[in-house]
Amino acid sequence: MSQFDTIIDRSGTGSEKWDHYASQDMVPMWVADMDFAAPKEITSALRDRIEHGVFGYTNPPDELNDLIVQRMLTRYQWTIDSESIVWIPGVVTALNVSTKVIGGDALCLTPIYPPFYSAPKQAGHSFIGVDLVEESGVWSLDMEALKSALTPETKGFLLCSPHNPSGRMWTEKELQQLAGFCKEHDLLMCSDEIHCDLIIDEQRKHIPIASLGTDISDRTITIMAPSKTWNIPGLGCSFVIIQDTSLRHRFKKAMAGIVPWVNALGFTAAHAAYKYGEPWLQELRTYLRENEARVREVIRAIPGLRMLPVEATYLGWIDCGVYLDETNQEKPWDICEKHGLAVSPGHIFGNDRYIRLNFGCSRPLLEKGLKRLQIAFSRE
Ligand SMILES: Cc1ncc(COP(=O)(O)O)c(C=O)c1O
Repeated sequence: MSQFDTIIDRSGTGSEKWDHYASQDMVPMWVADMDFAAPKEITSALRDRIEHGVFGYTNPPDELNDLIVQRMLTRYQWTIDSESIVWIPGVVTALNVSTKVIGGDALCLTPIYPPFYSAPKQAGHSFIGVDLVEESGVWSLDMEALKSALTPETKGFLLCSPHNPSGRMWTEKELQQLAGFCKEHDLLMCSDEIHCDLIIDEQRKHIPIASLGTDISDRTITIMAPSKTWNIPGLGCSFVIIQDTSLRHRFKKAMAGIVPWVNALGFTAAHAAYKYGEPWLQELRTYLRENEARVREVIRAIPGLRMLPVEATYLGWIDCGVYLDETNQEKPWDICEKHGLAVSPGHIFGNDRYIRLNFGCSRPLLEKGLKRLQIAFSRE
């Protein structure tokens, strides 16, 4: 039995995912957090820190930046300096600071995680979406469409890598194409790599776009976090890597007076995660891989539903269009909810034929959710 098979009761903990449906018979497979307890190393570091009792303004632990520098080097052969790291409480915050820095319209690959839509607009600019295209069963880039979408006001590219909701991990060739595109059209690149550790496809390796060379790193804001990886998003701790000094200063200036410090517990958890979290992460990946395979198996057997393999993340992007065309026009997430399964509605990502299903949960709960999915879309 895996440690991840344990069902932990999250009700009454203020959980966005669970308490939204409190007192309803609902399997919540929507908001992107997992139902797993963080590794013991993290909880015991937090316990020790809490025992200390004083929670003043806190800088990152001395060793934390070194752990990040080392991690970038060993995993991605990417050499960064400690000074290029800027700590920030949230990835969405970093995305919004980035759009202020970009200072113009931003291109994005759609469908996309909703804050990508709002961030350029919140900075007073426009969001320009370019749809991924399905080629031989893989969500792919349409470089011609990207080129056509450019306007004189386009100043940035917001990349989600790996991509939420499609689950794609961009290949080196695709990243090279995007890097070349940004250089050719003088765009700043903001790359949200929050899902970079959650690799489902064992054959694949995450590549930070900025690690491809100075041509792209000089114009890139990379955002990462321990939050998705070790299931600690409620602790609000993330970081950006900006190697170009003047771009980094612009980013810090845009944060000034608006973005608070990372809190003491967030730093403690991040330090323990990057220092001791690897064995837990390996076990998690195996578990998520098995969950993904099971989700795909069940979906293959439901006529009218379709999901391409998830290469990274614990989120399945499921096309329900065929089912809807043949039967009725009810929204697929409403059909799920009626059958006691809460999924994320596709329209918030930009496509209302789809649902997004979070399979970051114990196998017994997964089976319960999948059973409800089967019943919801059964044609009897
Ligand atoms: C691509 C992506 N970026 C950012 C976030 C949220 O990050 P944070 O909670 O640090 O703002 C999520 C959460 O689902 C995500 O999928």
